[in-house]
Amino acid sequence: MDRIEWSDLFKTDIAIVDEEHRKLFDMINDIATQLDSGHAEPESIEKSLDELVDFTSQHFVDEEREMVHFQVDKRHQKLQRMEHSSFIYDLNRLRSYADEGDLEDHYEEILKFAASWLIYHTLRTDLKLGMQVREIRSGKSSSDAFEYAETHPLNPAVYQKIIEAVIHLWTESLKRIESLEAELQDKQDTD
Ligand SMILES: [Fe+2]
Repeated sequence: MDRIEWSDLFKTDIAIVDEEHRKLFDMINDIATQLDSGHAEPESIEKSLDELVDFTSQHFVDEEREMVHFQVDKRHQKLQRMEHSSFIYDLNRLRSYADEGDLEDHYEEILKFAASWLIYHTLRTDLKLGMQVREIRSGKSSSDAFEYAETHPLNPAVYQKIIEAVIHLWTESLKRIESLEAELQDKQDTD
């Protein structure tokens, strides 16, 4: 499985956020290494996934606290909270689909979802947060900083990565919908 590589492109310049994002990348890469070894025990992958969920939840709490501290515009805070809770929900839901197919594929699917989501969220939503905090630090009001972030594009180099991540998330959701449809069809046929 491909590793996700940290670079300065991901920097929000909010120290705790950057530090924790890096750690999340490392945690995902460590699980990928366990999977690639070919002899990882499901118990140990499950334990690492539990740790990933715990650390991500803690990270969201820390990031949301920073947003309050810098008095980031409420519209952005709302978007962040929504994305954060949907990630934990989707990750837990994916983990609950363990009964079908190969366990290794199952874990790879979870991990790729976590990696793509993290890239998408950190490069888009969190970089917009970083932009606003920079503006607020230099004296702008919360709403001016929000307008600034809304109207200023991100570094062009991040868009390619965002697009790749979105395509992955989208393709995986389509696959999931297809398999749910097939399941439903089977159920209707047997009823
Ligand atoms: Fe975030």
